[in-house]
Amino acid sequence: MDLTGKHIVLGLTGGIACYKAAELCRALIKQGATVQVVMTEAAAQFITPVTMQALSNRPVFDSQWDARERNNMPHINLSREADAILIAPCSADFMAKLLHGRADDLLSLMCLARPIDIVPLIVAPAMNREMWSHPATQRNLKQLREDGTHVLGVGNGDQACGETGDGRMLEPEELLQDVIAFFQPKLLAGHKVVVTAGPTFEAIDPVRGITNLSSGKMGFAIARAAQEAGAEVTLVAGPVAQATPRGVARVDVRSALNMRSALMEIANDATIFIATAAVADWRPATAADQKLKKDGSGTTPQLEFVENPDILAEVASSARAVDGALFCVGFAAESHDLLAHASAKRLRKKVPLLVGNIGPATFGQDDNALLLVDAEGATELPRNNKLQLARQLVAEIAKRLHSH
Ligand code: CTP
Repeated sequence: MDLTGKHIVLGLTGGIACYKAAELCRALIKQGATVQVVMTEAAAQFITPVTMQALSNRPVFDSQWDARERNNMPHINLSREADAILIAPCSADFMAKLLHGRADDLLSLMCLARPIDIVPLIVAPAMNREMWSHPATQRNLKQLREDGTHVLGVGNGDQACGETGDGRMLEPEELLQDVIAFFQPKLLAGHKVVVTAGPTFEAIDPVRGITNLSSGKMGFAIARAAQEAGAEVTLVAGPVAQATPRGVARVDVRSALNMRSALMEIANDATIFIATAAVADWRPATAADQKLKKDGSGTTPQLEFVENPDILAEVASSARAVDGALFCVGFAAESHDLLAHASAKRLRKKVPLLVGNIGPATFGQDDNALLLVDAEGATELPRNNKLQLARQLVAEIAKRLHSH
């Protein structure tokens, strides 16, 4: 679980988005966190402390005068034990309060009294679009960031007031992803990463083509892990049914030639290229403009193939890659003799790091095992789910960037 061992103080302030805080509380706990809920008086107008107590399995705190704590200082005790204080929803009024260092209720008092270098403050703003775009709110937002607060984004869409625009709170699942990402070490901060993922589809005619069983899961997990590690990530994806990881830019492509042209532009200012795509080695020499029809004679179409360009080898031999400005990582999907094939492929493609895996044992699965081959030798990453492996791989790449 991604939040095992983390203790989160979940603060609720007044806003209709309080209804989403219930779901968020459950989601945090499901990922292994313990959650202590603190509510303002206004928040209790929108959702009851009873609901939040039941979901968090802990009494809710809502007053600085709460006598349950032996020393009568809930603002000190609650903030000292937290790994983070997460305010969701954070109203416009509460943002203004935080900004001025006001402390006239338990939650604001606790935020002010927290050890600022040890307990991070994360806020998820929630408000009407006019309130959100008001210069006062935007000014406060900027200052909050400068004060070291981690301000999450807002959603766009229909608002409870009937208006449409920016300012609604992110969905619980989005907030969960952002909190998980927040806790990941920022090993790739400042890096621009491009990842290829999925199969390619090579057309035979307008309705048919050849492709392979790659699901794109590993590439999508790597894109997510790189984003969590602080990189700016672009994912060039073949035809797959995977949700785009939060904060990742996605370019959808179909054929190997499409993938190559999309990539060449993006790779120009990337610092890391990770090629997980199962690019088709061959494509039909000509794609028919019209659907091929049976003529009733029983004769079958004769397909001729031409070889697709090797995108990884091409990028890896570009000037930026050769100079070391672009670190290239290849993948190898093999069926046997993994070490020998992966080592040979690394030399053939001229990449500093090649990641081998057994194709039939991983395509479409949620877990995988990786064998990392570089100039020094081989390192095994034992079977694990693809996101955990992706995070380990990101750490291995970060390690090699410094020694490269
Ligand atoms: N790759 C690529 N362009 C291609 C073929 C492969 O960029 N036309 C990349 C893949 O994304 C992967 C690596 O090269 O990172 C190796 O892919 P793989 O299919 O295992 O190797 P091939 O080069 O196709 O070699 P072989 O089929 O002989 O195993």
